This record gives sequence, C-alpha cells and structure tokens, in this order.
Amino acid sequence: MQEQSTEASDPYYEARRAEIAALADRCGPDDPIPTIEYTEQEHEVWRLVSGKLAARHRSDATIEYLDAAESLAIPQEQVPQLRDVSGRIESLSGFRFRSAPALVPFRQFCSGLADSAFHSTQYLRHPSTPFYTADPDMLHDVIGHGNALANKRFARLYRLAGEAAARAESEAALQFIAKVFWFTLECGLIREQGKPKAYGATIVSSYGELNHFREADILPLELKSLADVEYDISTYQKVLFEADSMNQLEDTVGGFWETCDDNSIEALLGESVC
Ligand SMILES: [Fe+2]
Repeated sequence: MQEQSTEASDPYYEARRAEIAALADRCGPDDPIPTIEYTEQEHEVWRLVSGKLAARHRSDATIEYLDAAESLAIPQEQVPQLRDVSGRIESLSGFRFRSAPALVPFRQFCSGLADSAFHSTQYLRHPSTPFYTADPDMLHDVIGHGNALANKRFARLYRLAGEAAARAESEAALQFIAKVFWFTLECGLIREQGKPKAYGATIVSSYGELNHFREADILPLELKSLADVEYDISTYQKVLFEADSMNQLEDTVGGFWETCDDNSIEALLGESVC
C-alpha cells in the first residue's frame, strides 16, 4: 500500500474496496454478514480514529449515546467483525446490521430500518485521510450509527423512520422524512448541562466535525423550521438542530415519524407534495 497516495490515485485502495463491496453484493438480507480479513493498515486506521473519537465523546456526546457505547464496547484495538458487533447490538436493542457494498438508496435503506436492520459498509476510509470520509465507511456506520442503535430509545427512532418512509408515496414526502433523518439521527444535538451534545452519527463519527459543530447556527428542534433549511452532506453543517432533551426528540421526531403520511407532510410544508 502506498502511504503517500490519495484515495483518487490509489489503485490498491480502489481494488480493496471493490473486493469488500463484492462480498456484500453477494450477501442476501438474511445471509450471515461476510467475514473480512482486515490488513494491518486497516487495523491501524481503525485504532487511530476510534481511539480519538472515544476520547472526544466523553465531552461532546450525549449521555444516552455514551451509555450505549459503553454497553456495546466496540473494540478499539482492531477492526471488529461486523457480524460480531451486529450480534451484540441485537442482544441490546433488537437491531442488527446488514452488509452493504456502499451507500444504499434511501428507500432501500429505510426498508431495512423498518425491519430493524441497518445497512452498514465493511470497508474503511483511505489511510491518507483518517479523519475525513466523503462516503460512509465502517467507522461511520459502526461507531456513529452502531453505538446509537445499541440504545433502545434511539433504535425505536430508527425503526420509526423506516416505517414512515414505507408509508410515504410522494417523492416530496420521502425527501422530507430524509431531511428530518439528516438533522436528527445523522447530525442531531441534545442540550445537556447547558451545552449542546451530539448523538447524530455524522458528528460523533467525525473527529473534524466534533471540533466544529458548536460553531454552527444551532436552532431549537422544530419541524417547521427544519423544513426551511437546506443541507449539504459533503461539508460541515452550517445549521444544526438541538432538542432540549431525549424526551423532546422522541416527542417531536418520533411522534412525527409514527403518524406522518403524504397528507400530513403536505400540510406541514404548506405546499402540495403530489
Ligand atoms: Fe450515516
């Protein structure tokens, strides 16, 4: 492996990702998650990133996330097998992982969530950029989403998002559900002891964004104001939404996902979604 290569110029990395993706492609939804023989360089990336993230989580992650991470106890010394982490999450919250070759389309992703299954990648980011990845990788999926999914309250929210997407027929309704997902389960904050703390997977799995999220414009979590904000998944978020408690997150977002349909979303947005 060429230490100096970037992701774009590293044929070894491209081939390695394709090799791992091919295993996921051949894996049906009910098949066992493939075992991957990780290289020493991949273990090194995992060690470096997971150790640094765990240290930052103590000051910057919400209590529910921290408690779940403690229960799940994801190994930091080497890349764990996704199948092992999945089994532990299942025993804690009923959720499990499904192997995915890459980012899956939102409808397919949500149909997994409705079935208490989260599509996770099994490859790691390029070693030249250990603290940044444009695409979700296993560090994002396992440390970001997996820790949250080990908590029954977060797991219920993921399931409700999946069920809401299954009810949505119009593209506009589906897009709004995706937006609520983005600003909560990907980038959400909860106020604790007078400070914003992160539980969203994108933030808790990004050492860079953990350093910057408090510089965002942090707004109270409210669906109508969330509807007015645009987002870009390729950069640090300029606007974030903060619940005042886990209860408020469950009431506002869980309550929305539990009952929403095309008509209620159309009414919320104040415009036709047909
Ligand atoms: Fe994610």
